[in-house]
Amino acid sequence: MTEPKILISEEDIRRKVDELAAQISADYEGKGEVTLIAVLKGAFIFLADLSRRLTIPRDVEFMALSSYGKAGATSGAVRVVMDLRDSIEGKHVLVVEDIVDTGKTLQYLLDLLQTREPASLKTCALVRKKDRHEVDVKIDYLGFDIPNVWVVGYGLDYAEHHRTLPYIGVVEPRESRG
Ligand code: IMP
Ligand code: MG
Repeated sequence: MTEPKILISEEDIRRKVDELAAQISADYEGKGEVTLIAVLKGAFIFLADLSRRLTIPRDVEFMALSSYGKAGATSGAVRVVMDLRDSIEGKHVLVVEDIVDTGKTLQYLLDLLQTREPASLKTCALVRKKDRHEVDVKIDYLGFDIPNVWVVGYGLDYAEHHRTLPYIGVVEPRESRG
């Protein structure tokens, strides 16, 4: 497999995560603990960096979702593979996502979490593919808008490759996008 081409450098990511952390810390100041919920696997590196830069009380939780359909395309049918251990009722919840493509996965998750009656529910996504969105999902804190390319690194994969690259790069998937 060829080396991904750099789209967002390690330094740009670091600076953006600092900015997001400062903004989130300011917004939640004085509200008590915020529960950060990351969607595995892709968001694990972003969550690790973001959570350590917040200056407010926070707790980290994980969920795993799986979307039906072939790799590279989200059919919209999403399934919870690993749920939260604890109730989020009355808690300030911030969903931390690596990437929003069509928006279907994040919208499904928000609809599900909302039924559990958190005190508040917001979203933070590192990357959004702006012209791919099909669902108008609310992103309260956004890192970068990118074009419709397949990106890897900083937690993101292509068929489980390249997840641990320090930057976000572009690969050419062999299969065309669905
Ligand atoms: P959505 O439901 O179409 O917004 O898809 C979101 C999910 O698709 C993300 O959480 C990723 O798992 C995956 N995904 C979408 N685009 C990319 C990409 O460019 N690189 C890696 N994963 C992606
Ligand atoms: Mg994801």
